[in-house]
Amino acid sequence: MTETVLETTNLTKRFGALTANDDISLSVDRGEIRGIIGPNGSGKTTLFNNLTGFYTPDEGSIVFDGTDITEWEPHRIARAGMARTFQIVSPFRNMTVTQNLLAVEAPDSIEDKHARAREILEFLEIDHIADNEARGMSGGQQKLLELARVLMLDPDCILLDEPSAGVNPALEKRILDHIQELNDDGTTFIMVEHDMDVMRTIADTVTVLDQGQLIAEGSFDEVTGNDRVREAYLGREVDLEEVLG
Ligand SMILES: Nc1ncnc2c1ncn2[C@@H]1O[C@H](COP(=O)(O)OP(=O)(O)O)[C@@H](O)[C@H]1O
Ligand SMILES: [Mg+2]
Repeated sequence: MTETVLETTNLTKRFGALTANDDISLSVDRGEIRGIIGPNGSGKTTLFNNLTGFYTPDEGSIVFDGTDITEWEPHRIARAGMARTFQIVSPFRNMTVTQNLLAVEAPDSIEDKHARAREILEFLEIDHIADNEARGMSGGQQKLLELARVLMLDPDCILLDEPSAGVNPALEKRILDHIQELNDDGTTFIMVEHDMDVMRTIADTVTVLDQGQLIAEGSFDEVTGNDRVREAYLGREVDLEEVLG
């Protein structure tokens, strides 16, 4: 039996004459890893901003865990269990890794924040740099720190914006393994990712955006074989042919 954790209905966001999210209706099952792909400027980050309260949609609704959250503020959505990382990571650079975690406004269900922070750093295998300042971390380690901060919220659903961008292959594999592990324990993921090999490996279902519209949805093989998807990517920064052979 599947249960819907997130549902958008006719979600629309305009910037002047530009419709960055155009009538998007999608439904995500609890426990799935949903991939979101689409050429640059197709509206992926805007969708995340709508879902997590950073933008207020012009039209449509968002229901998370059975509750309409359409007009909610970001921190309220995060505390309700839907948390995100950002495409550009932004830790508090002058604070240690542990301090960065303790700065997260965790839900009341977490009684001992220090213990929780330790547990997360061990899980992500960055406990050895717990007392280092965030400013000295590599790009990949900062991605892990960002994920660690999100985990402090004990979320049901995590939105990741390009988790493997700018990360070396070894660390990328570790990040993906951690995502898989968290997913095995029931966490739902919604993930924007340009790396098609990553998508093929990890996503249960892929949603494709183009010019703000949802143009295809299905398994990786289904959507990448879709003519409209191939057309959307023609001459763009990601060469589907190269990936798919
Ligand atoms: N705050 C904003 N103000 C004006 N235009 C925006 C804003 N955010 C996004 N856009 C525009 O909306 C479109 C979709 O952007 P975005 O969601 O960032 O695409 P993607 O993440 O798929 O690359 C782009 O044309 C972008 O320039
Ligand atoms: Mg983006």
